[in-house]
Amino acid sequence: MNIVVVKDYNEMSAKAFELIKAVVTENPKAVLGCATGSTPLGLYDAMIRDHRENGTSYKDVMTVNLDEYMGLDKENEQSYAYFMRKNLFDHIDIKLENTHIENGMASDAQAECDRYNALLAEHSPDVQILGLGSNGHIAFNEPGTSFDSVTHAVDLTESTIKDNSRLFSSEDEVPRRAFTMGLKNIMAAKKIVVLANGGNKAKAVHGLVCGAITEDVPASILRMHSDCTLICDEAAASLLPKERI
Ligand code: GLP
Repeated sequence: MNIVVVKDYNEMSAKAFELIKAVVTENPKAVLGCATGSTPLGLYDAMIRDHRENGTSYKDVMTVNLDEYMGLDKENEQSYAYFMRKNLFDHIDIKLENTHIENGMASDAQAECDRYNALLAEHSPDVQILGLGSNGHIAFNEPGTSFDSVTHAVDLTESTIKDNSRLFSSEDEVPRRAFTMGLKNIMAAKKIVVLANGGNKAKAVHGLVCGAITEDVPASILRMHSDCTLICDEAAASLLPKERI
């Protein structure tokens, strides 16, 4: 795993942008694996700015998102589908029909997982963007998830519900279940870019880089990927031993 430690959030976003832009420039039909959460917002801003200023086009790019809350319609402002439109898709020239995410309102959860797995089998990301949960989760693959998992429905842990409640008016409103790509789907991406910033991610970053490769720390599977880059700020890297930085 390549580890890049930068000063702050802005530098992290700028570095991530360089990597994503290189993929899209090399292949205008690239498949981008997108993530939600606060972490990739700076990257998405940089993509939007670059699209406006330099004309980088996404008209033939396809996206697949990691996860979606169950029970939220795509027009619901808390849904990840809405998040992606508001924070990226509405501001670049991507065709909405080329953007994919699990349907949080699917009545048959297994059929929805099967549909998404079939899509991913055909369109595995050229690059997958990842944030990190403070408990070491990636997408919504919570500690204990099998390394062999594919898209599935999950019960969110209390710590994830608490972490994500800052974006809802109360903890009670956070959905308890979600669809998520599995760890095996994520590992199938050609390239992976993991982003982490802030001291509340330091433990998860340590687990990702230094701990055992174990299903108890879902992110640790990324050490087995042949092209994975972690970009984190100094606060998120604060528990890493000096020789790893
Ligand atoms: C959620 C998402 C993850 C994301 C994580 C971290 O649980 N399902 O994909 O990486 O939150 O979020 P944030 O970037 O806001 O810290």
